[in-house]
Amino acid sequence: MNAALRAKTTFLMIRNGEVPEMLRELVNRVHSNEASYILRRDLSVPLARRPAARIPFHIRPLEPRDLPQIIAERPRRLPVLKANIPTCYVAAAEDGSICYMQWLVSSDQQNRLRPYFKGELARYDKDSVLLEFAYTFQRFRGCGIMGAAMAEITEQAIPMGARWALTYVKQDNIASLKGCAHAGFRPYMVRTEIWRGFRLHQSFRELEPDARYPFELAS
Ligand SMILES: CC(C)(COP(=O)(O)OP(=O)(O)OC[C@H]1O[C@@H](n2cnc3c(N)ncnc32)[C@H](O)[C@@H]1OP(=O)(O)O)[C@@H](O)C(=O)NCCC(=O)NCCS
Repeated sequence: MNAALRAKTTFLMIRNGEVPEMLRELVNRVHSNEASYILRRDLSVPLARRPAARIPFHIRPLEPRDLPQIIAERPRRLPVLKANIPTCYVAAAEDGSICYMQWLVSSDQQNRLRPYFKGELARYDKDSVLLEFAYTFQRFRGCGIMGAAMAEITEQAIPMGARWALTYVKQDNIASLKGCAHAGFRPYMVRTEIWRGFRLHQSFRELEPDARYPFELAS
């Protein structure tokens, strides 16, 4: 990422009131122990129950005219947007506002995504795609959009011949884990992330085939 783009992104994030989050991320890199689930959906199996959002929307690929709305609310995505990595999908509400966005990245594009990915991205094969940077715009949160939109975006990979869809979610991001569960994803692996003095040590562990989400264990 070039220095001017990095500076512009930082400025926009500060102007957007993201300083506390930026400081938290910085402190985490000094000393933290975290973990993410790698979730997986088998695209050869149709969804048992199709999630429905409480508002109508339609999915389409990102268009240049969407950038101002996205950058205004989610400035940290400016660098990856500028990188033009295929394909960012948006969900548009009836009035045209974007309510959700997420990238679907085929294996031949994974190296282009790597510089923008938080932590290490495990290499994935030709039969897999990656879903990344899920985001529901603030005023549309809690309407069940994530599960419904993610299911539809994921299924764009079926005509591409993909068998598996993968996605990474922090283990304490329950809203996102639930959205992924609604979209048909199941726990597949765990990535352990240990930060010490700005150095990241990661390890990957495959889970049992019948592994459950934390919120399923609690019930
Ligand atoms: C995570 C995120 C995409 C969820 O979007 P959403 O469209 O509001 O989610 P939904 O309305 O589909 O809700 C999904 C589930 O999470 C629950 N949920 C929502 N917010 C929650 C919260 N803060 N804590 C716990 N559960 C929450 C909902 O009740 C729902 O559960 P249910 O299906 O059992 O009723 C959104 O919060 C977001 O954009 N967060 C910031 C970016 C982010 O974390 N992205 C994911 C990166 S992996």
